[in-house]
Amino acid sequence: MSNRLARVFRPQTGRTVMLAIDHGYFQGPTTGLERVDVSILPLVPLADALMCTRGILRSVVPPSTRTPVVMRASGGPSILKELSDEQIAIDIEDAARLNVAALAVQVFIGGEHETQSVHNMTRLVDLGLRFGIPVMGVTAVGKQLTRDAKYLRLACRICAELGAQFVKTYYCDEDFETVTSSCPVPIVMAGGKKLPELDALTMAHRAVVEGAAGVDMGRNIFQSDIPDVMMRAVIALVQDGARPEDALEIYRSSRGARSGQSTRS
Ligand code: R5P
Repeated sequence: MSNRLARVFRPQTGRTVMLAIDHGYFQGPTTGLERVDVSILPLVPLADALMCTRGILRSVVPPSTRTPVVMRASGGPSILKELSDEQIAIDIEDAARLNVAALAVQVFIGGEHETQSVHNMTRLVDLGLRFGIPVMGVTAVGKQLTRDAKYLRLACRICAELGAQFVKTYYCDEDFETVTSSCPVPIVMAGGKKLPELDALTMAHRAVVEGAAGVDMGRNIFQSDIPDVMMRAVIALVQDGARPEDALEIYRSSRGARSGQSTRS
């Protein structure tokens, strides 16, 4: 268990930059993820961990890849149905066979199938304990729920109390530090919908300054016009302590250099 956690969170910093590409498990070929083999594989070596489904791992990610995998382990409903109606979507023995570093399960606090989703998590925690595989509880925010500190404190604390080894949740502009400080296990910040680069970098910076142990970002990286540079900028913030302006400069200067190259060629 500790060894797997140390593969996800760098022991030198206690932080992680996870690349989330699991969106297809309920919404199909998400923008930016149509060709994981072409657009995502080059980013994978940069990430501290890759969050994906077992289908993508088996069909696209080469077995030689050294980046640890946090595997999506719940699913069922598509975007056409009630999303909270998930079940466990992997056999723990297959997760062990695939040598995953952690499992991820969605928890819908306040959702229609709240208890079922919490039970999915507690069952996975029990199964994970047998194999030394940690579980990341992912706080899902339903359409009717407010993404504020009061809600996120409730959802994160329930995940931790019921056994998740770490929790993924969204950032909120006010009192996010109360979300991290009231959760006894590490929290990683989910990115959410695509934002302008400086806004996304500022959000990631604030999250770690306010106590998050890193980020698990998807769309703000793979929907960027230069995903590898955005990834490096996020790593500079989270792992190297860069300020958002410095990270944005990394992004801007690389974009400028690349557009210069393409103009000349
Ligand atoms: C959430 O349900 C998805 O599984 C993603 O892993 C998560 O939302 C993080 O991706 P993004 O940064 O695009 O929100």
